[in-house]
Amino acid sequence: MAFTADRLPLLPIGFFSDLSCTALKLRPHSPTPPSPHFPTSPPYRPNMTNSDRIIVPLDVPDLESAIALLDLLPEVNFWKVGLELFVSSGAEILGILQERQKKSFLDLKFHDIPNTIAGACRSASRYQVDLLTLHATAGRQALTAAKGAISDLLSPPKLLAITVLTSLNARELALDLKIPLELSEYALNLALLAKESGIDGAVCSPQEVAQLRRICGEDFLLVCPGVRPSWSTKGDQSRVMTPAQALKAGADYLVIGRPITGAEEPKVAWAKICQELADI
Ligand code: C5P
Repeated sequence: MAFTADRLPLLPIGFFSDLSCTALKLRPHSPTPPSPHFPTSPPYRPNMTNSDRIIVPLDVPDLESAIALLDLLPEVNFWKVGLELFVSSGAEILGILQERQKKSFLDLKFHDIPNTIAGACRSASRYQVDLLTLHATAGRQALTAAKGAISDLLSPPKLLAITVLTSLNARELALDLKIPLELSEYALNLALLAKESGIDGAVCSPQEVAQLRRICGEDFLLVCPGVRPSWSTKGDQSRVMTPAQALKAGADYLVIGRPITGAEEPKVAWAKICQELADI
């Protein structure tokens, strides 16, 4: 029996916990064998320091506040532009990030029919962003269309599929969304669907990252929001881990927002997190 993402929803709850990672071994198309040890410097991103793995979101209401944050934290090399800023101020911030030679993550979480999602990904690629998100729940055809729409570009952004939002908990998934799978199984199902559709990686909670790394392989990019240092509050995030735990579990990048941007002294909070990561 071939285990592919389209078969997983039919499997009973607990199936993956029983199978562990043997599911991937049975899958006919698995390009990378599961590895118990994820190297801290994957071959495709050599010489990256752990602080280069932190992405800070510009979750602010206008361009002026965004520029103020860039000025305040010149040591941050990777910034995320999300819905709040993009809807209020458009693409200008992406040009500013390019001028300052920063990496950019356009997190608009596209969720639409294949034709629309493909067009949106192509349009977004004009901004020369490094990472771009779409929801895995848009489905196989939409994911494939998204990848196909940008594959002929010279340096297309890496596409990341959103699995399960890190603000959702198991109760909401079962009672409100009526998903008949355990949260971790559902996240894995969506990540596998994305991988099979040619998507470069996934956004997942740190609590799921070890399993996704083991099963999706080392070339699949894993980006974790829901990261909270021990000294900060959770806010609306549910499934959190500390930065060190998330990196050790196999994340490529961490998205850390309010613990830094909402801190009394953002520079100090940034330095503290970098220090915590320096020794792992
Ligand atoms: O402030 P905080 O660290 O919670 O910020 C997390 C960032 O990551 C936000 O910009 C949020 O939109 C984004 N995000 C998330 N959960 C996802 C995907 C993205 O929190 N599953």
